[in-house]
Amino acid sequence: MAIFVTGGAGFIGSQFVRDWVRLHPDQPLINFDKLTYAGNLDNLAEVAASASYRFVRGDICDAEAVAAAMPDGCDAVVHFAAESHVDRSILSAAEFVTTNVLGTQVMLDVARAKGVKRFLHISTDEVGGSIEPELWFAEDSPLAPSSPYAASKAAAEHLVRAAAHTFGMDAVITRTSNNYGPYQFPEKLIPLALANALENRPIPVYGDGMQVRDWIHVADNCAALRKVIESGKPGETYHIGGLHPVPNLELLRRLLAVLGKSDSLLTHVKDRLGHDRRYAVDCSKIQRELGWHPTISLDEGLRATVAWYSDNDAWVRRARSGEYRQYYERVYGA
Ligand code: NAD
Ligand code: TYD
Repeated sequence: MAIFVTGGAGFIGSQFVRDWVRLHPDQPLINFDKLTYAGNLDNLAEVAASASYRFVRGDICDAEAVAAAMPDGCDAVVHFAAESHVDRSILSAAEFVTTNVLGTQVMLDVARAKGVKRFLHISTDEVGGSIEPELWFAEDSPLAPSSPYAASKAAAEHLVRAAAHTFGMDAVITRTSNNYGPYQFPEKLIPLALANALENRPIPVYGDGMQVRDWIHVADNCAALRKVIESGKPGETYHIGGLHPVPNLELLRRLLAVLGKSDSLLTHVKDRLGHDRRYAVDCSKIQRELGWHPTISLDEGLRATVAWYSDNDAWVRRARSGEYRQYYERVYGA
């Protein structure tokens, strides 16, 4: 199997690439990534020298660059590349539309021209918008995105479904809940809280902190993605969740307890504009149809994540200082 990954230098993409190369050392994998602020080749140090792995720096909006990098007839495209942070999309949405919408269409066009066998589009539970208490977001629920980020991801999904319907492409969509784990850029809640707590700095809690997210360890998510690549049905959408819905304040208290730090670091700040109150993804379909289940409990995952961030303060320092951005120039030239 030859596989073409976009956004493999980011948080989830790099976990997927590390796992895939370890599990399938004989299968060629190309990682195509623009290396925006969120792309960090430090995340891929352990596979960089593997014979089956190749990194290509490029922009998914550049059809020629994608076509030059993608082999004819490759078995699967796994499309992670995106602008992924809600707060940034509130400050400035244009880049989200360019990368997440236009970039996805470019990927679909090139994949079709190259005769790619399966296109896996990585989406998010946020396309369903805020879910009322007691209700669940299922694969066939209407989309109701409320942040510019979620709206751009919903638009991308529509383009994927349109390509499947119009051209008969074998396209599959996954929508995952909030991921956490090693190598997550310290702008998202868990790594930001950990990085601040380790320096005894305040942790910003937006609004009342009672917003609910369903946390999944990134390794469980990547196991689900492999299942979908191997045995998902063409044209289907699969929800992937951690089965660990908790309000932000409770999550942060549990994190601080593992760290042995005081709750007094928690500092309420102004709420995020249009903040979605609750995400609640129904992931019974993938469990029923593909036999996937999350295996890492929230307590276990938080302990492992705390240990990773505590042991990898150099990674956090390089991520925060922007030092990691010189890696490409140093290793690959300008
Ligand atoms: P990330 O922000 O950590 O990484 C994104 C990666 O995409 C980076 O390596 C970046 O350099 C690359 N990229 C951005 N623009 C590009 C472009 N124009 N061309 C090529 N590469 C580009 O994101 P993540 O958290 O790893 O998320 C990966 C995917 O999963 C995204 O599609 C996101 O919407 C989705 N998702 C994330 C979560 C989560 O909790 N993090 C949950 C559900 C879905
Ligand atoms: P985030 O990690 O940005 O993911 P998303 O917005 O995609 O769910 O945020 C997770 C939750 O934590 C969300 O409800 C916003 C909240 N939050 C804070 O309270 N403080 C913070 O500093 C951040 C980054 C997020």
